[in-house]
Amino acid sequence: MPKRLFRTKSLIGLMTESSDTEHGLKKSLTAMHLIAMGIGAIIGAGLFVRTAAAAANNAGPSVTLGFVIAGIGCAFAGLCYAEFASMIPVAGSAYTYSYATMGELMAWIIGWDLVLEYALGAATVSIAWSEYLNKLLAYFHLKVPYALSHSPFEVLKDAAGHVTAHGIINIPALFIVFLLTLLLIRGVRESSFVNGIIVITKVTIVILFIILGWSFIQPANHTPFIPEATKFIDDQGVPHNYGGILGILGAAGVVFFAFIGFDAVSTAAQETKNPKKTMPIGILGSLAICTVLYILFAYVLTGVGSVHDFRTAGKEASVTYAIQTYMTGYGWLAKLVTVAILAGFSSVILVMLYGQSRVFYSMSHDGLVPPVFAKVHTKFRTPYKSNYLFFVFVGLFAAFVPGDIVGDMTSIGTLFAFMLVCAGIIILRKTHPDVQRQFKTPLVPLIPILGIITCGAMIYGLGWANWTRLGVWMVIGLVLYFSYGIKKSKLNK
Ligand code: ALA
Repeated sequence: MPKRLFRTKSLIGLMTESSDTEHGLKKSLTAMHLIAMGIGAIIGAGLFVRTAAAAANNAGPSVTLGFVIAGIGCAFAGLCYAEFASMIPVAGSAYTYSYATMGELMAWIIGWDLVLEYALGAATVSIAWSEYLNKLLAYFHLKVPYALSHSPFEVLKDAAGHVTAHGIINIPALFIVFLLTLLLIRGVRESSFVNGIIVITKVTIVILFIILGWSFIQPANHTPFIPEATKFIDDQGVPHNYGGILGILGAAGVVFFAFIGFDAVSTAAQETKNPKKTMPIGILGSLAICTVLYILFAYVLTGVGSVHDFRTAGKEASVTYAIQTYMTGYGWLAKLVTVAILAGFSSVILVMLYGQSRVFYSMSHDGLVPPVFAKVHTKFRTPYKSNYLFFVFVGLFAAFVPGDIVGDMTSIGTLFAFMLVCAGIIILRKTHPDVQRQFKTPLVPLIPILGIITCGAMIYGLGWANWTRLGVWMVIGLVLYFSYGIKKSKLNK
């Protein structure tokens, strides 16, 4: 039995598999391409929704320091991802890399964990989409009622703290997931042209908000910059460590969501010109640009609106709220931001749903999950059954769970995957020292260890409720593996 847990897919086999994919190995991507790809995949709900949530629940204005920690953690993990990706010439994910190198059990754990990153990530962004949709509708004097745009665990309170409405189901979130699922089934993928436009729009609104909002910063909102450590109980009755170091670590874990997706860059290692030089520039470059933008953005947002706002009236669609309420004369910016955010979120959801179906497609091919996940549509040649099943799974979370909870589950799941990837690099240098790597993580084992420590600290900051959820998810995963995957694995043959 123990031997089976560590069996690996052969590297040679993987390389042959990869030679007949459409991903070929045309080396055409430059550092600029990679940076655009990274930025396109990452700016989304993390910035436009989770920043205000982290300020409200965890850190006040010191959420900016949370961004610094999250950015540093991502840089360490990103350098490890890049070595993995450059060793194994398949456009794949951490799942594929680990199957070839660290064995089946580890691959299963990572693959199962990636469901949190992709499927719950998609649910989080769709919930955020729903918030901004209501802001857009308000311009036309329309509105989806509170009950139909919130989960059953959420309530609306008036200024005196009385409950005025209960959520039932989040229909707009469900709708956007369904729409994008249909697009995916028809084989729609974002073209690099569309991606380019979305990247430019996203970066433009972020920069506009920073520059125009700067003069509306009220110093009182930034004082004290690091609030005193206390507990804050949110509307759902969940306690958070607010203020102090723990608050900053918690905020880092929450806004870590804003960096998720940069690992997409590493999957392009084999299509990159001179990966040795280009990969680190692509990964660190997109991270550095986003980190700087994020810090400035968070600084302005927490200066324009107060923590009290982000706990009450400005809890949802916080950026539009802050502009509308405090930046007089900038109504046009609020509209522009709202529309751009809706478009930007849609592209992030599409990428995540796509990533999810792709990981399960590989796992299904390997026999670890049922064959239905690899069933391809005869006409569209997409894994349509998998897309439908994930619509149901993602839809349940989007419709019935609050954004805070799915968002933090996404963060903690991804952080855990990052830690495993960092550990993987140390293991691989011992077990596969001779396999050629087009890119090598610098200063091994220091960088991977620092990655593990930083990501671990953020997991710590996310608190026991999230640790429990991660633990439960992993236990379910192990039960499934030992009752199904281990027996059905193609490696049994
Ligand atoms: N980083 C992506 C976002 O913030 C997932 O929406």
